[in-house]
Amino acid sequence: MTDTFDLSSELTKAHAGEQLSVTDLVSIDDLSSNDIELIFRVAAVMKRFVGQGGGHKKTDLLRGFTVCNFFNENSTRTRTSFEIAAKMLGADVVNIAGATSSGKKGETLGDTARTLDAYDTDILVVRDAASGVPAHLAELVRASVVNAGDGWHEHPTQALLDAFTIREHFGERPLTIINVGDVKHSRVFGSHVRLFKKLGYTHRVAAWETLRSPHLADFGIETHNHLDAAALDGVDVIYSLRLQTERAAGRDIPTPREYAKAFSITKAKLALAKPDAVVMHAGPVIREFCMSSDVLESDRCLVQPMVANGLVIRMAVQWLLATNETKKITPWK
Ligand code: CP
Repeated sequence: MTDTFDLSSELTKAHAGEQLSVTDLVSIDDLSSNDIELIFRVAAVMKRFVGQGGGHKKTDLLRGFTVCNFFNENSTRTRTSFEIAAKMLGADVVNIAGATSSGKKGETLGDTARTLDAYDTDILVVRDAASGVPAHLAELVRASVVNAGDGWHEHPTQALLDAFTIREHFGERPLTIINVGDVKHSRVFGSHVRLFKKLGYTHRVAAWETLRSPHLADFGIETHNHLDAAALDGVDVIYSLRLQTERAAGRDIPTPREYAKAFSITKAKLALAKPDAVVMHAGPVIREFCMSSDVLESDRCLVQPMVANGLVIRMAVQWLLATNETKKITPWK
């Protein structure tokens, strides 16, 4: 803690006695508007703390707490930021991967999670290639489960850091956001559709019919087949979604080259949106496929601020869950 910034008292002011209404974070559906605003307020304080730098980035607010990252699918940003966030808060962190766990010997995911729970894990951060795994484990363990991305379903902390970054850039005002590319297989989209509605944003999609559900209009989403002038007219945020080849998305497109020609964000496409529009992407960004390098490296692209905000959103989520006085009551099954 720095001499100039008292994190503890700033957090007390930020949460003003409020707590999350949930003990797990599995879906954006679980969060009330108050919860979302509370996470943003606490993340803003965490950001000021992290910004102090100078070797003062560590606090002991979560000393004595244990965070277990249980990742059964590849990750760079999410796993690393959850770990660094927990360590900056003073928690002990354990990392376990499906490839090296006893799941390989035939143990069920539930039994592995209950084993980790028996070590008094406070927060279990779960990523899995299968949809529904975090929700399943949340019913089995006493630890607070955080969904770090499950199959095609959701990636709630990604959506929260996206919205936090959008608000930081534009302030609180009505905005039009378009998701571009592989909507169908995207768990980021799964959380966006829920969160953007709660935040009152106008939500559009530009994707071929093979890359999206035919029912998006039922959720108030304006749908375009092509990333053209009509799709981009009046858009504030162009959010590119990577082609999820690990979920066999290659079968839903003619060829990668044709997909890139249609949906890769270039300066020419960006010029069709509002003059101050920005480009976002959860990462990993595939250069010249998701977007051109000149867009990625321009000041119109928010990828690097998003990555940085991933840290403070995950500090906020872990601190709020760990200090929530409402304790989970989970009968061991
Ligand atoms: N955005 C995101 O989830 O990235 P990782 O797969 O690297 O965690």
